[in-house]
Amino acid sequence: MELVYVAFGSNVGDRAAHIDAALDRLRATPGIEVLRQSARLETDFVGVGPEQGRFLNGVVELSTSLTPVALLCVLQVLEIAAGRVSLHLVNHPRELDLDIILFGSRVIDTRELQVPHPHFHERDFVCEPLRQLGVNVDMQAPMQTPVVIDSIAALTAKTAEWAAGDCSVGLVPTMGSLHRGHQSLMHTAREQCDRVIATVFVNPLQFGPNEDFAAYPRDLDGDLAICREAGVDVLFAPPVGQMFDDDFCSNVQVGAEAEGMEGAVRDGHFQGVATVVARLLAMSNPHRAYFGEKDAQQVAVVRRMARDLGFPVQVVPCAIVRESDGLAMSSRNVYLTEADRRASTVLHRALCSAREQFRRGTHDRDQLLQCVVQVLATEPRCAVDYIELRREGDLLALPPGDVNGGRLLVAGMFVDGVTPVRLLDNLSLNSEDANE
Ligand code: PAF
Repeated sequence: MELVYVAFGSNVGDRAAHIDAALDRLRATPGIEVLRQSARLETDFVGVGPEQGRFLNGVVELSTSLTPVALLCVLQVLEIAAGRVSLHLVNHPRELDLDIILFGSRVIDTRELQVPHPHFHERDFVCEPLRQLGVNVDMQAPMQTPVVIDSIAALTAKTAEWAAGDCSVGLVPTMGSLHRGHQSLMHTAREQCDRVIATVFVNPLQFGPNEDFAAYPRDLDGDLAICREAGVDVLFAPPVGQMFDDDFCSNVQVGAEAEGMEGAVRDGHFQGVATVVARLLAMSNPHRAYFGEKDAQQVAVVRRMARDLGFPVQVVPCAIVRESDGLAMSSRNVYLTEADRRASTVLHRALCSAREQFRRGTHDRDQLLQCVVQVLATEPRCAVDYIELRREGDLLALPPGDVNGGRLLVAGMFVDGVTPVRLLDNLSLNSEDANE
């Protein structure tokens, strides 16, 4: 028999009657003994959701021989019996809410059940009744998320546990120095997956000898705070030696998608990206992996690599997040001097100007590229690396004469500061999004 604490709450109809009926049914269920219940508290609804009435809350102490999953099923049947239409609508008014808070000393992390309940410390209407029942709430360490993991063994153990618990997993690979752009990847992953891993690893393989590997901004504490805010479950931040042994000598070379543009300017860059992403996919086995469209060519390279090597992952591109003046967010923006920062908006302005021409009926590739050239030429601080119009998706060459579905891509150097900054930007000609 295990000692279990279940929180109950109701804010629709005859709240006390819903709770009493559920407790009576629990008493009548074989394998469950209802031991004690706390006093009931009346509390306001907290959180984001439709306007709704006050809750009647409390906690009941049970002793049970049921497994956690069997008890969960019993509780869900009781919620439905009380009139709840959907068990999955969060923050909506409900006739009855029953949550397993503690199940003996077990730690459970499956798709349907997390025990101890991950948020119970934040809820006075759960903590107070638990204290009344003699539970030392402060001794029940709250699960700190994200859990920070720095070894592959611990990461694979965690992902194996999630796989056994039928959880879908989203991976957000990053090099840290996180900003709102990364956070939007995490939010999308959070919406689409049961568990989210963010990785922070400044990957030496993707930097050329004259690039900014040593100077690349690093701020693990700041990254942790951003991951926490975005609801990330695991932050994987391995040292270089974990990812690549001293004698590591295998590399993933991607073909067509890695040629031209960044591939032409940054020798070996995409080989380094493809290799590290392949390692991350292999060790975390995610259902989905999230990448920002600012690095559109990287998305195409990773998608091709995952497909060719047979990783069963969906590569999810996420829209560029911009500053209010249009500059695409990037960890490297912090290197820009004030003057270069002001000048940097020229990239987005140039792309928007060409898109405007496209909307007005100019579908000639050279004219559209010329339009980008002209706007960029107005800003002497920007040394243009390339301007391209490529096919949407894989970013390979567009068939002649067809710009429908094309994506414009630019890269420019800003060299005012101590560290020269290469900025990338791109825009889909067909995009309707005014902010893009
Ligand atoms: O986009 C990045 O930050 C990196 O290229 C990635 C995908 C994390 C690989 O190191």
